Amino acid sequence: MHCGPVRLASLAERFGTPLYVYSADQMLERLTLFERALSDRDHLLCYAVKANSALALLRLFATHGAGFDIVSGGELERVRTAAPEALDRVVFSGAGKTSDELDLALKAEILSFQVESEAELALLAQRAARMRRRARFSLRVNPDVFAETHPYISTGLSEHKFGIPIAQARRIYRAAREQRWLEAHGVSVHIGSQIRSAEPFGAAMARVARLVRELAEDGIPLHSVDAGGGLGIDYEDGSSFDAAATVREYIESMETALAGLKVRLVLEPGRFLVAQSGALLTRVLYVKKNGRKTFVITDAGMNDLIRPALYQAWHEIVPVEPRRGRRSTVDVVGPVCESGDFFARDRRLAPLKPGDLVAILDAGAYGMAQSSNYNSRPRPAEVLVTGRNARMIRRRETVTDLFAPELGLS
Ligand code: LLP
Repeated sequence: MHCGPVRLASLAERFGTPLYVYSADQMLERLTLFERALSDRDHLLCYAVKANSALALLRLFATHGAGFDIVSGGELERVRTAAPEALDRVVFSGAGKTSDELDLALKAEILSFQVESEAELALLAQRAARMRRRARFSLRVNPDVFAETHPYISTGLSEHKFGIPIAQARRIYRAAREQRWLEAHGVSVHIGSQIRSAEPFGAAMARVARLVRELAEDGIPLHSVDAGGGLGIDYEDGSSFDAAATVREYIESMETALAGLKVRLVLEPGRFLVAQSGALLTRVLYVKKNGRKTFVITDAGMNDLIRPALYQAWHEIVPVEPRRGRRSTVDVVGPVCESGDFFARDRRLAPLKPGDLVAILDAGAYGMAQSSNYNSRPRPAEVLVTGRNARMIRRRETVTDLFAPELGLS
C-alpha cells in the first residue's frame, strides 16, 4: 500500500505507529473539484478547520486561495499562526462564542461572524461599538430541513441547538440596521455533516434564497450566502466513489435554488476535502480468541480515532502487506479499557499476525482532530506526503507533554 508513490510500510518504520498519514496532493485535488464546479459564480471556499486543524494543512489550503470556517478562538489562532494573510477570509461559526472570542475576531478583522442567536448579535454589537470596529455578520439560519445522517451530526432541524429559526431572520436583520457597528454581510446555513444526497442542500438553499429576496425588498442587500459544509463521502466503497460528480451535483442543486441571485457563494467543506486523503497506520500487537470471537488488538485506540465508538462509523481497514490465506471474521480493537474501543466489529479480513501493519482508511477528517489523551496515551505523529516527499508535520507526543500543564505535586 502506498500514499502516492510513498510506501506506507516505510513510513511506519521511519516514524513509528500509530501514525496519521495524509496526501497533500489528494487534498488539493478535492479543492480543485470545488473551484471548477464554481467557476461561473463568485465564491469562497472556507475549509472547516475542525475537520483537521493541523497547521501545515491550514497553510496548504491558504496557499491555494482557501479561506477558513472557524468555531473557536483557538481555531482563529491556528489560522493566524499558519496563514495570517488569510484572516480576512475567515468566517466564524458556533453557537457559544464568548466575548473574548468575539474581541479576538474583531481585532483580526475577519470576513464575517456567522451569528447563531439574537443574544449573540447583541453582544457582537456591543463589543464592536466598544472597539469601534465594524462587524460584518451573517445570521446562521435554521431552515428546518431534514438531512439523512447520524443524529449526532444532523443540525438543520428546529429541534437542534443551531442557528436562528429562519422565520425570525427578516425581523432581526431589519432591527440590526439601527446598529451602527453592525453590517449585514450575508446569511449562512449548515444542515449537518456526512450528507450523501444533494437534495437537502438544495431544499435549504431554496429557503435561504427566499429570505435573500425578501431582504432585498426591504433594502437590505446581502453580499454572500454561506451554505456551510456537510457534503459526505463513501466510507464503505471509497475506490468507486465519484468525487467530481458528487461535487457537481451538490453545486448544481444549490445553483438551481440561487438562480438569478447575484451573491457570493461561501462553502465550508471539511470532511470532503480531507477525509479520504488520510489514513491511520497502526500495528497489530496481539491476535486473541475469546470464546467464538477473534480480536485483533492494534497499537491505535479509540483515543486516536473515536469515530467508530462515537458514531458507529464504518472505516475500511486493510492490511498494508496482505498475507495469503482465507479471510476470517474479526473485531479490530485498541488497547483502551473500554468495550467501545473498536475500529471494526465482525469484519472479514485477510489473516493478520502480531507485527503486521494495517491502515484504517478515510481517517483524514475528525480523526486526529477528535483525538484525546485518554488512558494517558500520547497522541500519534502526523506525516504529510507531497509527491515523493514525506514530511512529519506533528511529532509524536511524549508523556512529558501530557504532564506539562499539571501542578498537583508542589
Ligand atoms: N460548517 C459548520 C458550521 C459545521 O458545524 C461543520 C461541521 C462544517 C462546516 C463542516 O462539515 P463537513 O463538511 O466536515 O461535514 N465529528 C463528526 C462530524 C461533525 C461535524 C460538525 N460540524 C464526524 O466525525 O463525523
